[in-house]
Amino acid sequence: MVKYDMCIILEFGKIICLVTTYLFFTCSISLGSSEQNEVPYQVVCAEDGGKCKVDRGTYKGWRTYHSTCHVCHAQDAVGSTFAPSLLVRLKGMERAKFMDVVMNGFTGQVGVMPGWKEDPNVSPRVDDLWRYLKARSDGALSAGKPKKLPKKK
Ligand code: HEC
Repeated sequence: MVKYDMCIILEFGKIICLVTTYLFFTCSISLGSSEQNEVPYQVVCAEDGGKCKVDRGTYKGWRTYHSTCHVCHAQDAVGSTFAPSLLVRLKGMERAKFMDVVMNGFTGQVGVMPGWKEDPNVSPRVDDLWRYLKARSDGALSAGKPKKLPKKK
């Protein structure tokens, strides 16, 4: 709306439009908050392919995943002979669906996954699991143990 107003009011409208669109774009990436359709994780990777740094939630998700889920879905969520790759399964999956299958369990062509809502190590951490697995599935986070980004003030 604001962008559009600027375009028609100002003389060199086109340029202003581009600039505001660009600013809008960078803002929405760096904020990355918990809103539904926004990226739920923050990942910063070294350009030389070194370790990635992640926000605390994503880090806790990594830890929880490798305390429980890796037993079936394998290290780094790549899948095993009896449980699917979550990198693949999370593509296009909505957060609400993820919450439901992790809490209540899921049965499909491959087999049966139990629900985790009674598990005190998992249920308080489903949001963090979502952050971690989404980052993996989006290709934002490479395999292996991530490092923590400095705490936000
Ligand atoms: C006992 C083995 C086992 C463990 C442990 C396990 N899963 Fe699963 N999970 C499965 C199997 C098997 C499937 C696939 C079911 C199918 O599609 O037939 C699955 C499917 C899924 C799916 C995809 C559901 C869909 O709609 O496609 C998600 C997401 C998932 N698991 C997340 C997790 C998370 C997070 C954890 C750790 C809290 C976890 N799983 C632990 C066995 C397991």
